[in-house]
Amino acid sequence: MLRISILVFTILFSFGCCSVRAKVSYDDKAFIINGKRRLLISGSIHYPRSTPQMWPDLIQKAKDGGLDVIQTYVFWNGHEPSPGKYNFEGRYDLVKFIKVVQQAGLYVHLRIGPYVCAEWNFGGFPVWLKYVPGIEFRTDNQPFKVAMQGFVEKIVNLMKSEKLFETQGGPIIMSQVEKIVLYQSFLFYRKWEIGAPARAYTAWAAKMAVGLDTGVPWIMCRQSSAPDPIVDTCNGFYCENFRPNKPYKPKMWTEAWTGWFTPFGGPVPLRPAQDLAFSVARFVQNNGSYFNYYMYHGGTNFGRNAASYFVATSYDYDAPIDEYGLLNEPKWGHLRDLHKAIKQCEPALVSSYPTVTNPGKDQEIHVFKSKSGACSAFLSNYNPTYSTKLTFRNMQYDLPPWSISILPDCKTAVYNTARISSKRSEAKMVPVSGGLSWQSYKEEAPSADDKNTLVTQGLLEQINVTRDNSDYLWYLTQVNIASNEGFLKSGQWPSLIVMSAGHVLHVFINGQLSGTVYGGLKQPKLTYSGYVNLRAGINKISLLSVAVGLPDYGVHYERWNAGVLGTVTLKGLNEGARDLTKHKWSYKAGLRGERLSLHSVSGSSSVEWVEGSLLAQKQPLTWYKTIFNAPRGNDPLAVDMMSMGKGEIWINGQSIGRHWPGYIAQGTCGRCNYAGTFNETKCQTNCGQPSQKWYHIPRSWLKRSGNLLVMFEEMGGDPTKIYLVKRIVQQSIS
Ligand SMILES: *[C@@H]1O[C@H](CO)[C@@H](O)[C@H](O)[C@H]1NC(C)=O
Ligand SMILES: *[C@@H]1O[C@H](CO)[C@@H](O)[C@H](O)[C@H]1NC(C)=O
Ligand SMILES: *[C@@H]1O[C@H](CO)[C@@H](O)[C@H](O)[C@H]1NC(C)=O
Repeated sequence: MLRISILVFTILFSFGCCSVRAKVSYDDKAFIINGKRRLLISGSIHYPRSTPQMWPDLIQKAKDGGLDVIQTYVFWNGHEPSPGKYNFEGRYDLVKFIKVVQQAGLYVHLRIGPYVCAEWNFGGFPVWLKYVPGIEFRTDNQPFKVAMQGFVEKIVNLMKSEKLFETQGGPIIMSQVEKIVLYQSFLFYRKWEIGAPARAYTAWAAKMAVGLDTGVPWIMCRQSSAPDPIVDTCNGFYCENFRPNKPYKPKMWTEAWTGWFTPFGGPVPLRPAQDLAFSVARFVQNNGSYFNYYMYHGGTNFGRNAASYFVATSYDYDAPIDEYGLLNEPKWGHLRDLHKAIKQCEPALVSSYPTVTNPGKDQEIHVFKSKSGACSAFLSNYNPTYSTKLTFRNMQYDLPPWSISILPDCKTAVYNTARISSKRSEAKMVPVSGGLSWQSYKEEAPSADDKNTLVTQGLLEQINVTRDNSDYLWYLTQVNIASNEGFLKSGQWPSLIVMSAGHVLHVFINGQLSGTVYGGLKQPKLTYSGYVNLRAGINKISLLSVAVGLPDYGVHYERWNAGVLGTVTLKGLNEGARDLTKHKWSYKAGLRGERLSLHSVSGSSSVEWVEGSLLAQKQPLTWYKTIFNAPRGNDPLAVDMMSMGKGEIWINGQSIGRHWPGYIAQGTCGRCNYAGTFNETKCQTNCGQPSQKWYHIPRSWLKRSGNLLVMFEEMGGDPTKIYLVKRIVQQSIS
């Protein structure tokens, strides 16, 4: 297959109709599109993190916000769920997404990867890839390179056949191959130095990509060894000091972080609009030629797409457009104003280097003068505490602390990064009238003597069994307790100690939930240790191990494990400790409700549901369902899950993601000052509250009436306190 497609390629592009001529090129100062030098303003919107119905509005808002380019990753595991079986439908309709961008008159920066990281399950790799014999991810490994090349070619060919590259009249002006190969780049990874194979792999990836002849430049972010003609780029909160690896490459910032992601158990990160604008202006005045907001719209990790560890369902990111598609003000407006000011300077910026002077302490002036006579200036005050008066060409300018003023004509300050003149807004979640009437179905914990279990001696790795078709794997065994066990008389129960590679463990003894333990963002591994109520005779031990997404980064993350993998020990018996690790264990992948498709319209009628006084409350392993009518209007909708523990939610058969409001945010929510180097540990909110209380229900997933809402609850909750809310934004002039 692979050889054939390479052959087709060669024929097309060596003897085919049209030789590919680069209409997009670059030099050290700018991208050059159809002969025009451009300073490009870009924003990330990931197509599967919203719905096709939302795309036109999001992209229009991006255009109105002054963007030239939409940047997105390509999500391999969404497009190739099993080998050779492709999906380009619905939220994965990549061609449609790109055409929506094209219709709005914007460009596309396509980060094909196929490694994406992105807090996306398995970093975007399909789980089957892990089980290709002999594979090692993202290094000089033949099975990996074959698979990667196959997918990159698939995407490039699709784009070509739809004429989406700029050279064909389409909107794609640049692509990205790979991301950050982990043998350098940043200190954090240095301990995992993997050396020569990674270097060889980088060189191969570059050559492979360039060989695909797209006619538009390729980039690799944070890859200082990116071989020519690939452009290496910067990611970060600040990138003003970044220099590409060759003097003739443009200075690009592929990820200007507008905020950060929220993990379950963590606070909600923020980044002040003033500091973001300051960092962008500072980048531009230092020869920057392309910057991209990561994220411009973050959106939602629908389904089971959130990565380990513990990435929440909301991917709001404090982006200029919020999770629900509404403007996050004043951020959106403040950046729009910044972009207007920068665009006014574009003629000077793309054709000259700045002359830099320092008239006073913490003061700096950058002046750009083009041959054609354009003059633009950036005046900076780097002091985080004091405002300053700066004299430039005999005029005096007042600059607030930590701010930059932009003078497109070297005279008039049209914008200052610390002065917000756009509207402010406050989003509210307003309950929608009408309570929901619930039915419940309680799922039993299975036991080792159930039919249709997989039986082995010893413990199995979780993902190897589930292949990630479910978050859930049951580990089932039995223990025989002699009637002369001392604890039966003393009442001193024995304790069970279970070591797991993560991420959540519920322990059931004879069908009753005995305890729960879970890891967190920094430590997915966990140990359960608790007293267990055993009786004389056979006792059923049923361990429900739950994965909360697969890792999305790290050297050889394909080798990372989940599930009960350490030891299982029973302590406090007459014999002392009994090691159950090598026991006979039976396995059941997934839940009974998942096998019956209780989340779907057709499957939901396959069990007996109860309601009214029989409704299960505060009980583990419970499925709930209700039918509701779509609230009127167009306001975005969510479901308030404050009263629930952990599980997953479906609307008309489609998963809106995992819920876990029971995980309370721990962190240091400090005073978030815009002035001074951005401090992540201060700029966060929600400490002591659920990390995520509201879960987005896309409007387009609803019918007018008779919508099926199903949820699975692992831990126990009170469904009668669940309600629908609509998101309303109130704006005020600051
Ligand atoms: C801009 O680029 C030129 C050419 O590489 C370099 O000499 C100059 O130092 C750069 N200026 C800034 C402020 O980075
Ligand atoms: C995966 O499971 C199979 C049997 O189902 C076993 O042969 C193999 O060793 C397991 N691999 C890992 C990495 O656990
Ligand atoms: C960020 O703020 C925290 C909490 O106030 C503080 O402990 C830490 O030192 C600050 N970090 C930096 C780099 O200033």
